[in-house]
Amino acid sequence: MFELSATSVFLGVVIFLLCFWVVRRPKNLPPGPWSLPIIGYNFKPGLIHEAYMDLAKKYGPIFSLRRGSFVFVILNDRESITQALVKSGEFFSDRFVPGHFNWSIPDPGKKGKLHTTIAFSNGKPWVDLRRFALPALRSFGFGKQSLVPQINLEARYLSEEIRNLRGEPTDLATTFSKATANIICQLLFSQRYEYSDGEMSRILKSMDEFLSLIHETDLVNIFETLIHTPRYKPYRESIFSDRDFIMSHLNSHRETFQKDNIRDFTDAFLADDISKEFELEHFWRVLLDFFIGGTDTTASVTSWTILFLSVHPDVQRKVQAELDTVVGRGRQPNTLDRPDLPYCNATLTEVMRIRPILPVSVPHMTSDDVSFRGFTIPKGSIIIPNLWAVHHDPKEWNEPDTFNPDRFLSADGKQFQKNEAWMPFGVGRRDCVGSQLAKMETFLLFTNLFQQFEFKLPPNQPNPSMRGANRFTMNPQPYKICAIER
Ligand code: HEM
Ligand SMILES: *[C@@H]1O[C@H](CO)[C@@H](O)[C@H](O)[C@H]1NC(C)=O
Ligand SMILES: *[C@@H]1O[C@H](CO)[C@@H](O)[C@H](O)[C@H]1NC(C)=O
Repeated sequence: MFELSATSVFLGVVIFLLCFWVVRRPKNLPPGPWSLPIIGYNFKPGLIHEAYMDLAKKYGPIFSLRRGSFVFVILNDRESITQALVKSGEFFSDRFVPGHFNWSIPDPGKKGKLHTTIAFSNGKPWVDLRRFALPALRSFGFGKQSLVPQINLEARYLSEEIRNLRGEPTDLATTFSKATANIICQLLFSQRYEYSDGEMSRILKSMDEFLSLIHETDLVNIFETLIHTPRYKPYRESIFSDRDFIMSHLNSHRETFQKDNIRDFTDAFLADDISKEFELEHFWRVLLDFFIGGTDTTASVTSWTILFLSVHPDVQRKVQAELDTVVGRGRQPNTLDRPDLPYCNATLTEVMRIRPILPVSVPHMTSDDVSFRGFTIPKGSIIIPNLWAVHHDPKEWNEPDTFNPDRFLSADGKQFQKNEAWMPFGVGRRDCVGSQLAKMETFLLFTNLFQQFEFKLPPNQPNPSMRGANRFTMNPQPYKICAIER
């Protein structure tokens, strides 16, 4: 008797939850797959952009699904992404901030303390920070000729490091990260680290761990309390060691600050009125955005470039022939050469098309109820711009899965040709803050490396996988490469 009633109570609760779930589904959402109660849509393990592509084939370029208490709307073509993020930018430009960020971002609820990060805040703090950061970064050379010598110096250290390997098959991923971390650290704190430096190696290793740990479909993004479980210990530890690393730079800058000698981005912050609004103790998180945003992304583009050009030696030969004709071997390439290196530029652009390293960008969130293409998308929905889908859309590209730099060249091969569907940095008011720097950096590292080395896969081994690894940024799966001095 007692057992029976316990069962019926249990069944009652389940039925109630199911009804609640069904009734709660907002009206007029874009179509989408059925989702489990509570947990929501259950992704199979694998690359998230591929799962989204499959769903878009079934439900159309705009579809929705549910996970936890969140509604996700996934945008899978150029029209829907530009219409949302550019034309309706006032509704679609908030960032979805996962609850577990409370671990790494000071509580905005505390008096006088603001949510200080560029990538993961909204409203006035975000507007103020972007308004401060963009000109400040530009004054330190973002996108300007004055930054070339610094990047080219790092490219020389990098070449030296690679030359010392004497053609031995090596996984270069970490070495690339050390180079790109140095470029960003010089802009932020005027400091570069030897490639053998223990502290930097530790920081990069822990950053790599946590980017691999928390990817897009990870449950902790929708059930934030999971962050306290042992699985996420490496994440918690890495955030705090990153904070200590950055705080030590902030403190030494505060001690040596001179108003008439602004050395770097950190000094620019100390000198600006904005430092009255955001406390220094919280500014580390802004710097961490730049450090993370600027290191792994750019290194990963370099890694993909070397992988693709090793698998396509014909492209590598053309790149080197163009470099030999235009630049020669006697000096380093620079950004002024770019218009004269259309094939190199097209090759790099094609790598960033075929393997966008943030394939599903960074999640946005609607700031209000918004009607969009005949659907009603509620306030607080998570918006996913599937950049991969745009970069592989047969409506935009001929044979999108084929690696072909010529698609970015005029018929005579002399002019670079744009395509509006190329958007690895996102679009709209929330697009990548570092795109100017990233474009310079990837171009200079790429041209310097191929000017000096021929990259070859180790002989007698199967070709490495060209699918990406499933992590926050999509790096190639680890591979070894031989760099032969030219
Ligand atoms: C090839 C390299 C890079 C790629 C492909 C890339 C791509 C992106 C993408 C897709 C976004 C999200 C845009 C959106 O939300 O709609 C983003 C945001 C961002 N990126 Fe990059 N990025 C790169 C390099 C950099 C560098 C070098 C920096 C820093 C110096 C940087 C800093 C940021 C920051 C701070 C944001 C957040 C902007 C905001 O929320 O307002 N990125 N990036
Ligand atoms: C941080 O946690 C508090 C309560 O613990 C919550 O009210 C707040 O919304 C959380 N912040 C974020 C960004 O989720
Ligand atoms: C090089 O390619 C980028 C896209 O990767 C493009 O924005 C730029 O205009 C090109 N530069 C030249 C000089 O063709």
